[in-house]
This record gives sequence, structure tokens and C-alpha cells, in this order.
Amino acid sequence: MNNKTVLITGAASGIGLEIAQAFLKADMNVAILDFSQTAIEEAKTQLSAFHQQCTFFACDVTKEPQFMDAIDAAIAQFGHIDILVNNAGVQHIAPIEEFPSDTYRRLIDIMLIAPFLAIKKILPLMKEKGDGRIINMASINGLIGFAGKAGYNSAKHGVIGLTKVAALEAAPFGVTINALCPGYVDTPLVRNQLEDLAKTRDVSLDRVLEEVIWPLVPQRRFLTVDEISDYCLFLSSPSAKGVTGQAIVIDGGYTTQ
Ligand SMILES: NC(=O)c1ccc[n+]([C@@H]2O[C@H](COP(=O)([O-])OP(=O)(O)OC[C@H]3O[C@@H](n4cnc5c(N)ncnc54)[C@H](O)[C@@H]3O)[C@@H](O)[C@H]2O)c1
Repeated sequence: MNNKTVLITGAASGIGLEIAQAFLKADMNVAILDFSQTAIEEAKTQLSAFHQQCTFFACDVTKEPQFMDAIDAAIAQFGHIDILVNNAGVQHIAPIEEFPSDTYRRLIDIMLIAPFLAIKKILPLMKEKGDGRIINMASINGLIGFAGKAGYNSAKHGVIGLTKVAALEAAPFGVTINALCPGYVDTPLVRNQLEDLAKTRDVSLDRVLEEVIWPLVPQRRFLTVDEISDYCLFLSSPSAKGVTGQAIVIDGGYTTQ
């Protein structure tokens, strides 16, 4: 068995689950953190073939003591964290004047403060070892604006800034830190968003795709989760040791227009 250990937040569903599976297939140990007990139970079934290599932690990354305890437990079990993937995320869409302040704070907590806390705890261990990889799941919404996504876009822009600072601080110690910026990936998060849009406009999902989404995506398709997990494997490989501090865009051409 490969000795490397990966810790992934929000890994019981969507992109995180696919990343977990990709690292498990690469023979690594994986610690899966997620706050949805239902999603964890489903993920346990899906990943049952790998039960010796992976452990599940039910944990809300916005609750600092709980989050830090889960990281400690993963370190106690596997001995070290070699790769950290800050992936947990949620969406809320509303114009700023209608955006609940608590929801705005929660989005920042999940997608900006939690990555900061995890990096603060795990980076010193990686620096001490002289090796490590950190991947922050940002979004194209970390690079461009999108009306209605004040919380999400603020968090994703913030996490790209955090990535650059952390990468500079980590660079002399053999640790790389990058942000991935996907466009639309076919996951529950995006499906829910599109269904809400269809309901609000009282039109079919197909019409939302034709009128709202495909005009934004030159490739006229959703990305698949494995296109994102493959990048995580690459960033964790020896070939990527010179890639750090980057916001890497994978978006079917969205942001080139
Ligand atoms: N799907 C896309 O098109 C897309 C595009 C760009 C970026 N992203 C980012 O990728 C990441 C994963 O998104 P996804 O599409 O797979 O969504 P998803 O809803 O399928 O998965 C997100 C996971 O995060 C978990 N989570 C949410 N809040 C949490 C909390 N407080 N504590 C612990 N776990 C929590 C959820 O339970 C869920 O399992 C997110 O950061 C998202 O912003 C997604």
C-alpha cells in the first residue's frame, strides 16, 4: 500500500467523493470529512471495496473544535497528512439586498475560514516533513463575478488569495498549494441550483440549459467529476512539484469569452 494519506473535506458527495475514490484507487489512505450523515452512509457503501484504506468523520467544518478533533483523529489513525483537499462547499443564490447575513457568513465560514483553519493546522506538519500538497477547491466564481452569488463569489475569491499567500509561505519547505477553478461540474450542488432556476422561471430544466447555461459554456457540456479528480492526482504527483500558488481553471471555455 502507498503510505500517503489524503484528507478531504466535503468528500461524501460530488467532486469530493470522486477525488476520494481516485486517491483510493491510487492506493493511498483517505480521511473523508463531511457533515451529512446521509451522504456519509451512501459514500461508505460506494467505497466499501476500499474500507481498509478509508475512514469517515462526521464533522461540520464551521465548528472549529469539531473540525480540529477530526483532523487530529485522522493524524492519529494514519500518522500524517500528506495531501489536504479543502473541498466542502455550498451555494446560495439571491440578490445582495435579499441575501440573509447569516447565510453569507456561513458560506464564508465553510469555503474560506475552514480552509484557513485546516491549512493553519496541517501546513506546519508538512513543512516539518519537507513535503506536502494542498488543493483548495475554488471555482471560476473565484475569478469572475456572477449576479446572485455574493456569498459564494466572496468566499471563492478569498480562497484564491489565501492560496497565493500560503503557497509563498510554504514554497521554501517543499509544500505546494494550489486552487482549482472548475466551471459547471455535474454534481448535486449544480443540479439543485439548476432546478431552483427552472422553478423560479417556471420553465423546464432543458430550457434553463439552452437559455442560461450553454450560452456561457463554449463546450456546451457539464464537466465530469473525474476531470477534476484527475487534476488533483496530477497536482499530488512528483511531476507537479513546481506548480504552486496557481488558480487553475478547468471550465470548458467559460472564462475565455
Ligand atoms: N459542481 C460544480 O459545478 C462546482 C464548480 C466549481 C467549484 N465547485 C466546488 O467544488 C466543491 C464541491 O462541490 P460539489 O459540486 O461536489 O457539491 P456537493 O454538494 O456534491 O458536495 C459538497 C459536500 O460538502 C459537504 N459540506 C457542506 N457544508 C459542509 C460543512 N459545513 N462541513 C462539512 N461538510 C460540508 C456536503 O455535505 C457535501 O457532501 C465545493 O467547494 C464547490 O464550491 C463545484
